[in-house]
Amino acid sequence: MDTFTPSTPKTATPTPTTATPGPGSAAPGYIHGYSEREAVRLGDQADALADLLHSGTRYPAGSRVLEIGCGVGAQTVHLVRRSPGARLVAVDRSAESLAAARARVAECAPGALVEWRQADLFDLPFAEGEFDHVFVCFVLEHLSDPVAGLERLRGVLRPGGSLTVIEGDHGSAFFHPDSALARAAIDCQTRLQRAAGGDALLGRRLLPLLDGAGFEGANVRPCTVWADRTRPELMTGFTRDTFIPVIESVRAEALAAGLAGPADWDRGIEELRRTAVGEGAFHYTFFKAVAHNPAGTTAR
Ligand SMILES: C[S@@+](CC[C@H](N)C(=O)[O-])C[C@H]1O[C@@H](n2cnc3c(N)ncnc32)[C@H](O)[C@@H]1O
Repeated sequence: MDTFTPSTPKTATPTPTTATPGPGSAAPGYIHGYSEREAVRLGDQADALADLLHSGTRYPAGSRVLEIGCGVGAQTVHLVRRSPGARLVAVDRSAESLAAARARVAECAPGALVEWRQADLFDLPFAEGEFDHVFVCFVLEHLSDPVAGLERLRGVLRPGGSLTVIEGDHGSAFFHPDSALARAAIDCQTRLQRAAGGDALLGRRLLPLLDGAGFEGANVRPCTVWADRTRPELMTGFTRDTFIPVIESVRAEALAAGLAGPADWDRGIEELRRTAVGEGAFHYTFFKAVAHNPAGTTAR
C-alpha cells in the first residue's frame, strides 16, 4: 500500500520545481512555473477574486504606479479598469509572461496605457522614489527574503507613497467534506514551496514583514473566500479552477520527493474535488495590506 506521511517526509529536502533562478534574494525556484495551464489558472484566479481583492484599490489619474511580478497580466487588467487614468508600469522577470500580459491587457482593456518592463525585483531599473504607489500580488510568497524584497520596493516609492500587497495563506484552507488525504496534499504543496525558498503561509506574516522593511502605518485585512453552493461562481472560479489546480500541479514533485504515494495523492485530490460540488464547501483567506513609505526617508 502507498504510504502518505506528510508530517515526516522521506527525503529531508524536496527538490524545487521548475524555474529560472533570479538574482539577489529571489527564491531559487518558482514553484508554479510558467505553463499555459498556470497562465489560465492565474487568469481564473484574478477574475474570480477581483471584487474581493481589488476592492478599495484605486489610484488617482496621473499617479505613477508600479505593479511588480505582473505575471500574465491577470491582475493588471483589473488595475487598469479600476484606475484608468493612472500611469501603470508592469514588471516581471519572465519575458514570456510579459508577452502574455501585454496580449491579455490589449484584449481585455483595449487602449489601457501600460508600460511593460522585464526586470527582477532585486535589480529594478527605476530611480529612487520614482513611484507614487506599488502593487504586488502573490509574489512575496516566492521570495526567500521577502523583507529584502519589500525594502527594494520601498526604495522606488516616493516618501509618503503607498504599497499594496496581497498574499494567500494555505493554513487558512478548510473544507467540507473534510479529508485527511486532501489536507496532506495541500501540505505537500506548502512543503515543496518552502523547499523552493518560498512560503505558502506568508499571508499571516504581512504585518511584521512590512514593519521589518521600514514601512509605516501598515494595515492588514483578511479577504475571505467562502465557496459553497450558494456561491457557485466561487465554487468553480476559486475552488475548482484556482485552488485545486495549484495543489494538483505539484503531483510529480510530491511523488518524486517521497512526500506522497500515488494512490493516496490521487485520492486526496479526488476528495479535494468533492469540496467544489454539491454540498461541498471551501474556506480560504487572502491577506491584503496597505502601508506607506515614511515621509522623508528612502530605503536604498
Ligand atoms: C504567482 S505569479 C503572480 C502573478 C500576478 N501578480 C497575479 O497575481 O496573477 C508570481 C509572478 O512573480 C514573478 N516573480 C517572482 N519573483 C520575481 C522577481 N524576483 N522579480 C520579478 N518578478 C518575479 C514571477 O515571474 C511570476 O510571474
